[in-house]
Amino acid sequence: MSNKIVIGILGSGTVGSGVLQVIKENGEDIARRIGRDISVKTVLVRDLTKKRANMDGIKLTDNVEDIINDPEISIVVELMGGIHPSLDYMLKAMEAGKHIITANKDAVAQFGERLFSTAEKHNVEFKFEASVGGGIPIITPLKQCLTANKISLIMGIVNGTTNYMLTKMTADGCDYDEVLQEAQARGYAEANPAADVEGLDAARKAAILGSIAFNTRIKLDDVHVEGITKIKAADIAYAKELGYVIKLLAVAKDYGEDGVNVRVHPVFLPSSHPLSTVKDVFNAIFLRGNAIGDAMFYGRGAGSLPTASAVVADIIAVARNMVIGNTPVTGCTCYNDRRICPLEETESSYYIRLWVDDEPGVLGAIATAFGDSDVSLKSVIQTRMVQGHAEIVAVTHVVKHKKLEKAAELLRTLSVVYKICNIIRVEEE
Ligand code: NAP
Ligand code: HSE
Repeated sequence: MSNKIVIGILGSGTVGSGVLQVIKENGEDIARRIGRDISVKTVLVRDLTKKRANMDGIKLTDNVEDIINDPEISIVVELMGGIHPSLDYMLKAMEAGKHIITANKDAVAQFGERLFSTAEKHNVEFKFEASVGGGIPIITPLKQCLTANKISLIMGIVNGTTNYMLTKMTADGCDYDEVLQEAQARGYAEANPAADVEGLDAARKAAILGSIAFNTRIKLDDVHVEGITKIKAADIAYAKELGYVIKLLAVAKDYGEDGVNVRVHPVFLPSSHPLSTVKDVFNAIFLRGNAIGDAMFYGRGAGSLPTASAVVADIIAVARNMVIGNTPVTGCTCYNDRRICPLEETESSYYIRLWVDDEPGVLGAIATAFGDSDVSLKSVIQTRMVQGHAEIVAVTHVVKHKKLEKAAELLRTLSVVYKICNIIRVEEE
């Protein structure tokens, strides 16, 4: 096929090398699907001496200008990660008239608006399917296949590392530090796993999902973030006992006139919920639309080939448009300016684990603190003594977050309460 489409790739690490492998292995079919050959001409890396696979006929460079200033290259795929210099390279490539594909959730979550407006100004495409859920198609389904719907809820397991850790803690009763070491040894968690375990990686993905689902710009600062660092084996055990599993969820919810709320936090999920079956490093995104009802997208949220699957699909979509002469079709979809509903206004049931003095009247004092805060209790259990204290677990009925906060404040003032060990939302959606 003549007039092949020429690509430059920024980065050839886990995902970049996967993209080269997929293009090499499936190149013939891909060319037929596009109606034209594609060819990777140049790849940008830091270290030119590293041994790399699937580089036959490809120029390796450490100078980004070799890609940005090459008139033959029409698609640039950014797979370096981080903000600097990736953002600058993407903007410069757009200014040079090149379509951009990226897997970079940091850049999309923080600078999506700038990237979209630059793409629009220069009449190029900007696609980022791999930035959420790795290989799972979710951005394109939200922007295209589900665009007839009003989406009212998204709940996603979007971080593989933490899902692996929680799965191991649930299955084997291991404690947090032990499973973190294991996740690192298996190469799931980063050397510095803070972005995973403190929820920031999931928050970036939540901001992207919320922006697309509600057609309004959700900034990273709009996302309430709690990670899994406070989850103890005891919480996992109580969840099991009560018929739940603990998952770290990215939640984006439409509260109508009160606005939209986007948050990342651990939840007690009923063990019958479809997301509860998502184990190990797998990801899944559950959503609710007013036409489709409930739907769930499941698969591998990270890894070389799964993530490359999403990146190469974006390449094919852009290349097809080039072949038929389409101008960029689905640009920024944030046409609304929705209020951000503060966390305090959101509602949930809550699980509260606390250590208290083991003496008469304590349960009454605790019940009064909840009652005075207008928080109704569904159940209270006391099963064991820990370090000389009675361990109490209370589960509330659905209540506004601000009332729960008030109850927690009151509990902390009680001399019989030694400490509140954990408070976790109970998701009954
Ligand atoms: P990675 O393995 O660390 O690879 C990064 C690549 O970029 C390397 O080839 C590196 O060159 C190159 N690079 C980094 N900084 C550079 C610079 N300043 N100049 C030139 N080259 C530079 O990263 P990755 O895991 O493939 O992730 C790439 C992107 O995909 C990130 O945005 C990540 O968040 C996203 N993503 C990753 C996954 C996953 O499973 N890994 C899943 C979904 C999304 P050298 O090879 O010379 O070091
Ligand atoms: N660190 C991320 C995870 C990689 O564990 O899911 C994919 O974005």
